[in-house]
Amino acid sequence: MGWSSWNAFGTDVTEARVLDSANTIVASGLAAKGYLYINIDDGWWLKRRQSDGRMQVRTAIFPSAATGGPDESSFRPFTDQIHRMGLKAGIYSDLGRNSCSQAYGGPGTPNLPEGTLAEREVGLYGHAEKDLKLYFEDWGFDFIKVDGCGVRAFAPDSAKVKDGQYQALVPLIDFQSVNRTDVTEIKALYTEVADHLKHYNPDGDYVFSICAWGSADVRSWAKNVGNLSRTSDDITPSWGRMLTNFDSAATRALYAHPGSWNDPDMLFVGHGDFDENHLTEAKSHFALWAMISAPLIIGYDLRKAPPELMEIFGNSDLIALNQDPSGHQAVLAYETDDVQIFVKSRGDDPARKAVAIFNRGTAPQDVILTADHLKYMAADDVHLVDLWTKAALPAFKGEVKLRVEPRQTLIFDAHGTRTLKGGIYLSEIPGRVNPAVDGVVTPQADPFIHRAVSPWAGSRGRGDLPMYAGWGGAQADATPFGRSLQIGGKPFASGIGILANSRLEVRLKDERRITASVGVDDSTLDTATPVTFYVYGDGKLLAQSSALGFGSAPETLSADVAGYKLLELVARSTAPGNAERTVVTWGNAALSN
Ligand code: GLA
Repeated sequence: MGWSSWNAFGTDVTEARVLDSANTIVASGLAAKGYLYINIDDGWWLKRRQSDGRMQVRTAIFPSAATGGPDESSFRPFTDQIHRMGLKAGIYSDLGRNSCSQAYGGPGTPNLPEGTLAEREVGLYGHAEKDLKLYFEDWGFDFIKVDGCGVRAFAPDSAKVKDGQYQALVPLIDFQSVNRTDVTEIKALYTEVADHLKHYNPDGDYVFSICAWGSADVRSWAKNVGNLSRTSDDITPSWGRMLTNFDSAATRALYAHPGSWNDPDMLFVGHGDFDENHLTEAKSHFALWAMISAPLIIGYDLRKAPPELMEIFGNSDLIALNQDPSGHQAVLAYETDDVQIFVKSRGDDPARKAVAIFNRGTAPQDVILTADHLKYMAADDVHLVDLWTKAALPAFKGEVKLRVEPRQTLIFDAHGTRTLKGGIYLSEIPGRVNPAVDGVVTPQADPFIHRAVSPWAGSRGRGDLPMYAGWGGAQADATPFGRSLQIGGKPFASGIGILANSRLEVRLKDERRITASVGVDDSTLDTATPVTFYVYGDGKLLAQSSALGFGSAPETLSADVAGYKLLELVARSTAPGNAERTVVTWGNAALSN
C-alpha cells in the first residue's frame, strides 16, 4: 500500500509534490492504516554521468538531491526525510537502456533525461548492478518498479532510433505475440535485478515490482522473481480500461500468494470516471482491487482530495481485507459479462469470508447470492455486513436477492457454516497453492478480458485485443479455460482445474490428510491421452491414481500427510510437451485434520 507519482503527475513530478502527498498521507491517518510506500515513478532522472556511469538526479525538481561534491547528486536526503516520517521510499527504472516516457512521451513531455545519447541511457541495461547498489545501498530506497519499455520500444526501424535520438535495441518483448517475445531473456534480466536486490538488501526488506504488463509469459515465472507483477498495460481513468485491467488479474487467484501479488496497476480513484462525482465507480474500483489482493497504490494528488475520496482510501475494513496476511486472492464464484460474484477467504477464521457482487453494466441487476457461492450450508443462517455502510443485513438461509445498481459493487463480510466440516478446499486457500508448473506450453491471451476503446489509439485500427497471456493457467473452482469442473459426467463445485504435466505445491500447516477426486476433465480438448495423478509429501510418493482417460469416472486419492511441510500434486500424461492441452481436475481437493 502506498502512493505513486505516476497517475497523479506523470513525469511532471517534483519533490514538493511528493513530500506534500507524503505529509498528507501521514496527517490524514492513511499512513497509520498501511499506506507506507511513497514511490517516485518516471521523470526523476537527469542523466547518466559518463565518467563512471553514476546516475544523476534532476535536482531542479528534487532540490534536496543537490548534494554537490564528487557525487553531484544523491537521493539520500529525500529517503532520509521519507524514513523520518515513518514511510518507505520507492524508485523507478527500466530493464532496457531507456524509459517509457522516452519511448512514448511527445515533444512537450517534461523532465525527459538530458544530454548526449549515452547520457540519456538511464535504464538498467548493462548497468543493473551499479544502479541497484546506488538506489538501495547508497540511497536507501525500499521499493523499485522496473518497467520494460526499453526492451520493447526501440526497434532499429522505430522513428526515435532512425532519427538518431536513441540507440536501437532489438525488441525482446512483442506485445502482440508471445512467440516473438524472448521470454528466456526477459526472465533472465528480471532475475538479475532480483539477484542484485537480494545482494544489496540482505535483510530482504524491499519490494520488487515487475512491470512487464502481463507479456513475456510473466504468469509462469514472475511470482518466483518479484513481489508484484503487472498483468496488463496501463490503467487510465475510464471505466472500460479499469475493467480491462481488473479482468487481467481477476481469474489468477492461484498465482498470488504472500510475497508475490498480481498487479492490475495503480489506483485511479480521484480521476475521470472515478472522481468525487462518480463515487459508485470509485468505490467499485477500490473494492475490486481490495478483493483481488492487488497493491493499493494511490495515484492521486492528495492535497486536493475531498473527504469522500479520503473515506474510500481509508476504509479500514477494505484495507484489512486487502492486507489479510493469509493472502488468498478472491475466487470467482459466479460470472457473466454483466455480473460477477467474488469470494475471498480470510485467514483468521475459515467460516468468515468476504463477498463482492459486481454489476459491470449499465442496468440495475437483482442478483441471487447463494450459500453455495460462499461454500456455506444452505440450511444455516448466513450473515452479511456491508463493508461500506457497516450495516448488517437480515440473516438468510439458502439464498438472498440483492439489488445492485449499475457499476456498483456490493461488498460484505460474510459468516456462515462451512459445507466442508473439519477441512478446507484448496480452492478456498489459493494463497497456499502454487502452480509451480501449470502445464501451459503455448501461452495464449485470455479471450475474456474486457476490450475497451484504446486510450491511446482511440478507434483507429481494428481495436485492442486481449494481450495478457494467462489463458490455460490453473484456476480455482474452474478449468484452465474457465469452464465448470466435471469428470466422467460428475460435476465438482470445488476443486482445482489445471493442464496435465503440471505440479501444484501446497504449503501444509498442521493438516493430516489430503483427499481429491481426480481425472481428465470433460471439457478437455485432448480426449486421447491418459493421465496419472500423484501426491508427494516432501518429495516422497504418498498416493498415486491409475492412468485415467477421458470419460473415466473420478478416482479418489487420499493420503496421510501428517508431519509433511510441502505437498506436491502432480498430473502426468503420456503426451510429452502437453501440446494437446489435456485438461485435468483435482475435484473437491481438500485438506483435513
Ligand atoms: C509505463 C508503465 C506505467 C508508468 C509509465 C512511466 O507505461 O506501465 O505504469 O510507469 O511507464 O513512463
